Amino acid sequence: MTVHPIPELSNPPGIEFRRPVEDDYPAIVAVIDDWWGGRRMQGLLPRLWLQHFRGTSWVVETEAGHLAGFLIGFHSPDQPDTAYCHMIATNPNLRGRGVGRALYERFFADARAAGLSRGVAITWPGNRVSVAFHRAMGFELEEGPDTRNLYGVPAHERYDFDREERAVLVRHL
Ligand SMILES: CC(C)(COP(=O)(O)OP(=O)(O)OC[C@H]1O[C@@H](n2cnc3c(N)ncnc32)[C@H](O)[C@@H]1OP(=O)(O)O)[C@@H](O)C(=O)NCCC(=O)NCCS
Repeated sequence: MTVHPIPELSNPPGIEFRRPVEDDYPAIVAVIDDWWGGRRMQGLLPRLWLQHFRGTSWVVETEAGHLAGFLIGFHSPDQPDTAYCHMIATNPNLRGRGVGRALYERFFADARAAGLSRGVAITWPGNRVSVAFHRAMGFELEEGPDTRNLYGVPAHERYDFDREERAVLVRHL
């Protein structure tokens, strides 16, 4: 697996990083489906994520206090080398400016500080932007006997809910 040098944390201009609080929940859940281009994603983020995973997650805000992005993740209790990113998204009006990269950098920095060595995420293989973004972030797509080529990338069939396809993304920290 590729070993990546530890980078400086980037700071895109005009936005601020902080840990989420539970009061961020309504603002986040209100934009999720829109930020995923109309896919129904809300169900993947019940309130518990803003209660129990704040210390390993991040939000970004504009200077005016508007939500610019979020990363909800955790350090796996059962895979002690692994930091798992459950959801990451940025405001569609602020894409392509390094906000997503800066969120992942902070998540990776937290993981390294906790002694973890692996970042993991999953995505729908037809989400080409997500696949390209994760590749740009140094993730590799898991490939093996259980994967087949779906939408041009190795992915697992019937991975979630016994019906939905997922590509598994792994990055050495
Ligand atoms: C995926 C997403 C988080 C990227 O956020 P972003 O703020 O635009 O990303 P950045 O500007 O930090 O880009 C980081 C890298 O990803 C690449 N990237 C981002 N968007 C891309 C796109 N549409 N096509 C190809 N590459 C892309 C960039 O080239 C960049 O690489 P570089 O730093 O080497 O130049 C954002 O598009 C999004 O919220 N999408 C909807 C939610 C989603 O699908 N989340 C991922 C699945 S959980």
